[in-house]
Amino acid sequence: MTLTLSVVGCGYLGATHAACMSSLGFTVIGVDTDPNKVAMLQRGELPFYEPGLDTLLADQMKTGRLSFTTDFSAVKDADIHFVCVGTPQSKDGLAADLTYVRSAVAEIAPYLKDGSLVVGKSTVPVGTAQSLRDQLAKTAPQADLAWNPEFLREGFAVEDTLTPNRLVVGVANDRAEEILKQVYEPIIALGTPWIRADLPTAELVKVAANSFLATKISFINAMAEVCEAAGGDVTVLAKAIGYDPRIGNKFLQAGIGFGGGCLPKDIRAFMARAEELGAKQALEFLREIDAINLRARHRVIDVVRSELSEDLTKYKIAVLGATFKPDSDDVRDSPALDIAAQLQAAGAAVVVHDPKGIEPARKRFPKLEYTEVVNDAVKGVDLILHLTEWKEYRAIDPSVISGLVKNKIIIDGRNMLDRDLWRNAGWKFHALGRSD
Ligand code: UGA
Repeated sequence: MTLTLSVVGCGYLGATHAACMSSLGFTVIGVDTDPNKVAMLQRGELPFYEPGLDTLLADQMKTGRLSFTTDFSAVKDADIHFVCVGTPQSKDGLAADLTYVRSAVAEIAPYLKDGSLVVGKSTVPVGTAQSLRDQLAKTAPQADLAWNPEFLREGFAVEDTLTPNRLVVGVANDRAEEILKQVYEPIIALGTPWIRADLPTAELVKVAANSFLATKISFINAMAEVCEAAGGDVTVLAKAIGYDPRIGNKFLQAGIGFGGGCLPKDIRAFMARAEELGAKQALEFLREIDAINLRARHRVIDVVRSELSEDLTKYKIAVLGATFKPDSDDVRDSPALDIAAQLQAAGAAVVVHDPKGIEPARKRFPKLEYTEVVNDAVKGVDLILHLTEWKEYRAIDPSVISGLVKNKIIIDGRNMLDRDLWRNAGWKFHALGRSD
């Protein structure tokens, strides 16, 4: 039997999942409530930047297997429904806002056919899947519900979906697992580890993974603070501890910390949920992880002040990078953009450059000045901040831009630039966690 899939919510996760599932040969119906997004996707255009996904989407639209609509009744032909809507931080606290997940399941319930399976992929507080399953038992008892957390990284979305390092499925019975095995058969055939879990464990795997990654980053940023105090170099420290395979060298890049639509809100929602469950103390450490992370942003601003002056009103600063990480146009909770806005609020004139994120950044902070040309950004500035590690910034020749700036001072907020290169060109070079 050839399966038909629906994907409810066509943002980052959903659009990627829909295009990738189509590329595996399934008929896929994508549903989203945003008519502009749907119109773009239906034209084969991606509403955000993600390397490789633009061409995959365009190719899949040509096959006729993939379509997008705002009409929920279109899911009636599907056997499996992937719920990929967002779970942002709620406006009034740390917890996740589950409005979209709950309404997605309620919207599709009337159209679920006999034996169909709803598969949640959104990141949710533990216990959500069971409550949705209970809800479905009342509104659509002919259907079942499973949870299949997603671990894709922005910038590697296609690769992480088609060749993930593991597949985790939370199921309440063998039948649900068998259906998911049918969907993922080509990926399982690559030797991808398959982990069957119960519903709460599957939900927890996702937030545990993101909490661990956030902890690693804040750990190395805490070491950066100690290195600065003690006269050490965090880049050498990270390299040295990273050779221990028990520690590993990934996610030990010290700098201005983590941002984006996932890590920050996931650790906060996890804390809020643990408190509800009576396990608050177990996740108290995440509060410190969050605090270290936000402190890194202030530490950069402290370096700027110590280089220029406490009063920044007479100074012009170039910020290289607006997105929360390279190869993405996502500026949600971006440390780079937050720092740029804070410097402007402190009175500095700030010019922001980013290869892909200017438009989303402008929507968030319309009063910042933006340019698409690095040389324009640095013209006449008193200081340059390197805050998102786009490849093109590592290609900047410091001797070439020396003639453009007012002062040759650069702060590397990502520990990615070649310090010797900049110093040999006569620049004052600072980096977080490197006291020299
Ligand atoms: C993260 C997880 O890595 C994915 O596995 C997960 O699926 C996703 O969240 C999600 O929950 O949907 P992503 O938000 O794309 O993916 O970004 P990461 O690559 O994890 O980077 C997060 C932040 O940490 C970025 O701001 C990055 O600059 C920062 N970072 C990363 C560091 O500061 N240092 C490092 O060593 C690594």
